[in-house]
Amino acid sequence: MTNVVVVGSQWGDEGKGKIVDWLSERADIVVRFQGGHNAGHTLVIDGVSYKLSLLPSGIVRPGKIAVIGNGVVLDPHALLAEIEKLGAQGVKVTPENLRVADNATLILSLHRELDGMREDAASNSGTKIGTTRRGIGPAYEDKVGRRAIRVMDLADMETLPGKVDRILTHHNALRRGLGEKEVSHEAIMQELTSIADRVLPFRETVWELLDKQRRKGARILFEGAQGSLLDIDHGTYPFVTSSNTVAGQASAGSGMGPGALGYILGITKAYTTRVGEGPFPTELKDEIGQFLGEKGHEFGTVTGRKRRCGWFDAALVRQSVATNGITGIALTKLDVLDGLDELKICVGYMLDGEQIDHLPASQGAQARVEPVYVTLEGWKESTVGARSWADLPAQAIKYVRQVEELIGAPVALLSTSPERDDTILVTDPFED
Ligand code: GDP
Ligand code: IMO
Ligand code: MG
Repeated sequence: MTNVVVVGSQWGDEGKGKIVDWLSERADIVVRFQGGHNAGHTLVIDGVSYKLSLLPSGIVRPGKIAVIGNGVVLDPHALLAEIEKLGAQGVKVTPENLRVADNATLILSLHRELDGMREDAASNSGTKIGTTRRGIGPAYEDKVGRRAIRVMDLADMETLPGKVDRILTHHNALRRGLGEKEVSHEAIMQELTSIADRVLPFRETVWELLDKQRRKGARILFEGAQGSLLDIDHGTYPFVTSSNTVAGQASAGSGMGPGALGYILGITKAYTTRVGEGPFPTELKDEIGQFLGEKGHEFGTVTGRKRRCGWFDAALVRQSVATNGITGIALTKLDVLDGLDELKICVGYMLDGEQIDHLPASQGAQARVEPVYVTLEGWKESTVGARSWADLPAQAIKYVRQVEELIGAPVALLSTSPERDDTILVTDPFED
């Protein structure tokens, strides 16, 4: 028996929510350890769809503890709205089943505004990132800049005013520079006091909770958001998010030591998608890209933006297998490939006349690479809803085997529809 860390191995939206929900039946605790409400995770349970952004996907299962770790940037308004929305769907969120790290950083309205202002300004010069405009980047900047307001600060009215002054000195200087109106001390104090009573009941010393539970033998499931190619260090910088999304962050972002992390499950889509700007060597701007987008319903859960689609990039996922220490993958959305005559998988790139086996780190080179493909025969049969290998056509099995070989990691789970139970179990990560 072990703990399990779930991470996205591409540019996000790999189907982490569905797999975390499926795995959480076997877990006692589900922990988010980075990102914020830039994430959008869709779960489908008996035809009912649940859309989660900030809350760990395990929240929909009764009897589990959902934890928002210190590595998350937390917008209290988004949290309260999501709790209310889930409540309307019959999922009760209380301090019994949700705990929020007292040392998690808060996203304030000034972070959201700054995110939008900077994206607007960058749009004019063609340099925008295409962020979700949720204030994620500005909040992480303040955390690292040691001027952030954290959950525990809401309970300390003696030190809070000084902290508000400190964060405002920085933000108002920026706002003046951008020609925007300054924010008053009173406005921030009002924003914080208006939510304090509703957020503080969820407050928890998360490192201690996890330590106690681990010693008792509880099974802990860590739920990553975004994907490894959006990681602030290992991703396609600067077209990335502002947190470390790789598995190592499960430790720093929760307060549980890395030795106890256990099985690292990389959620991997059978093709590739990306939302927002940035390099995407296997992107398909033709009818096949359109086919994948339409069949896979590739529209962002958070912003509704159309996701860019392309062939599976084994060179990139191989890198994610290394940077995360992936033990096995959950391969999702295989069913979306049904009906294509042939399928391509990228195995490396041509750069300035030379073949290379991984994406270079420089932005200029990333924009210049041309993918090198292997081509496989497609299949005409439907794999939708397949629940065992025996239900898969031979060519689909060949495709899966080729993916495993090229990325250097085995398939532990295979997903064939959005529904919770349309999942083929090869290896149980908790028992590995
Ligand atoms: P996440 O951000 O990684 O949790 O992924 P999203 O929820 O943003 O996007 C994945 C989408 O694909 C969701 O709408 C899921 O319901 C859906 N999905 C997940 N697994 C499968 C699958 O195996 N087949 C199909 N067709 N859809 C899936
Ligand atoms: P889930 O958890 C896909 C992308 C944004 C943008 C970049 C930076 O659903 O997989 P940010 O708002 O984080 O500063 O935006 O990262 N991005 C995601 N793309 N899935 C996500 O989350 C994402 N979260 C952020 O589109 O390109
Ligand atoms: Mg998503």
